[in-house]
Amino acid sequence: MILLLILALPVIFMYLFHKNRKAAKPLLPPGPPGLPLIGNLHQFVTPTNLHIHLWKLSRKYGSLMHMKLGPVPVLVVSSAKLAKEVMKTQDSVFCSRPKLLGQQKLSYNCLDIAFSPYSDYWKEMRKVSVVHLFSIKKAQSFRPIREDEISRMVAKIQALASSSDRVVVNLSEMVTDLATTLICRIAFGTRYDERGSESRRFNKLVRDAQAAMADIYVSDYYSLFSWVDKLTGKLAHLDATWKSLDMFYQELIEDHRHRNRPKTLEEEEEEEDILDILIRLKEQNVLSSNLTWDHVKAMLMDIFIAGIDTSTASIIWTMTALMKAPDVMKKVQIEIRELVGRKGKVDEVYIQNLPYLRAVINESLRLYPPIPLIPRETMEDCILEDYKIQAKSMVYVNAWAIARDPEYWEDPDTFFPDRFLNCDVDIKGHHFGVLPFGSGRRICPGIYMGLANVELTVANLLYSFDWELQSGMQEQDIDTDSLPGITVLKKNPLLLVPKKRV
Ligand code: HEM
Repeated sequence: MILLLILALPVIFMYLFHKNRKAAKPLLPPGPPGLPLIGNLHQFVTPTNLHIHLWKLSRKYGSLMHMKLGPVPVLVVSSAKLAKEVMKTQDSVFCSRPKLLGQQKLSYNCLDIAFSPYSDYWKEMRKVSVVHLFSIKKAQSFRPIREDEISRMVAKIQALASSSDRVVVNLSEMVTDLATTLICRIAFGTRYDERGSESRRFNKLVRDAQAAMADIYVSDYYSLFSWVDKLTGKLAHLDATWKSLDMFYQELIEDHRHRNRPKTLEEEEEEEDILDILIRLKEQNVLSSNLTWDHVKAMLMDIFIAGIDTSTASIIWTMTALMKAPDVMKKVQIEIRELVGRKGKVDEVYIQNLPYLRAVINESLRLYPPIPLIPRETMEDCILEDYKIQAKSMVYVNAWAIARDPEYWEDPDTFFPDRFLNCDVDIKGHHFGVLPFGSGRRICPGIYMGLANVELTVANLLYSFDWELQSGMQEQDIDTDSLPGITVLKKNPLLLVPKKRV
């Protein structure tokens, strides 16, 4: 019996060893090997098109990829199936945001919505904002501003087009000016002269803020080495950016509070800009804890940061895609021109009767999502695809890669708007193969305002002009390189020749 036991021991050991290995299975997902101490930090800092770099890595390592930024675990999600798991099935686990120094500083320690971690505060603030700032009704109330600003831009291009036979227009610059003026009027009711000093000041503030937020700080990954950010001057720069922004917000607030506008309550509510609404909410004490001026400023920051570049990027990528696909351009122009006839401009009422224009914009937002890497953070330990995922892991949902998921899309790399016709796939977070606005609890609340800006601008550009490339250029010469940043803009300006319709 003892001999039998001795003989059986190695077998029992082998069994237990294998069993334990199996039980320990929830391993980390595969991913590219990192370097000692820094992990994969070098792979995040160097490439300009980070989303494309990560997409290429995911083709080698899989649609769930594990990396490390210093000691911080990072997950990259690159398939529609996994995006559904992260943004729907396990949304309650994946719905926080990483706390990063630049974003934390400029959002008054996360008193905004976009960079605030998931918490009761975020829930309350988001609820109030969705009702008062981001509702469909509120987005519609800004219609006269949109129509006015877009008409001004079209008139400017018309004047240029009439001035010589083949004038080249920097459409990227025109559209950036438009998106900035639109947001300034919507957010604080002021129309800056596009080339005036106040406009230059505002543009610089927004650019500096975008850069400071997208910057990588050593302190985010190694608190022990936070002195490095001091030494490199990054902290001082961040502080200076915050101070300039703070002064700007303060001036706007003072100006709004001392504005003399004797009007009825209804008139006031109808004409309120976003800052008016925020001041009213502060005075009415709508949150369980008091709103302070810092809360108001943090929310203003969200509107500037989230509203300007996303609209600019969407419009410019759509025009870029159309210039590369002249047949699609012709088809959508025919649709718009047949509906609007000789009215002279496209009013917002027409938009819902332009299904092909909608399909064109959907397809462009699929292939060129303005925020290609959607940042999230896990709230607690969880299991994803049999892998063990740690609490406080940074998560990037790669919307750019997902749009190229061959399991979800036929011929995914082709710009083919017809795929959105006569089908129920929408871009508002219900279908996980196309996520320009994200999905789940953190889905973009500015979706109606954003889409209204993009649709009306593109419709008018296509209605009013025929667009040609500069002499000697072919469709295939138009590049799609992008600038680094949270919102991805086209790197090289889109230079086109507008031909006024006769
Ligand atoms: C075409 C234009 C726009 C695009 C493509 C876009 C895209 C996005 C995306 C991808 C997110 C992250 C969603 C997620 O985590 O699931 C987001 C969040 C957000 N967006 Fe937009 N956005 C646009 C316009 C706007 C506008 C006009 C505003 C406000 C004026 C806005 C305000 C916000 C805010 C406040 C958040 C944070 C939401 C939260 O964390 O709870 N966005 N947006």
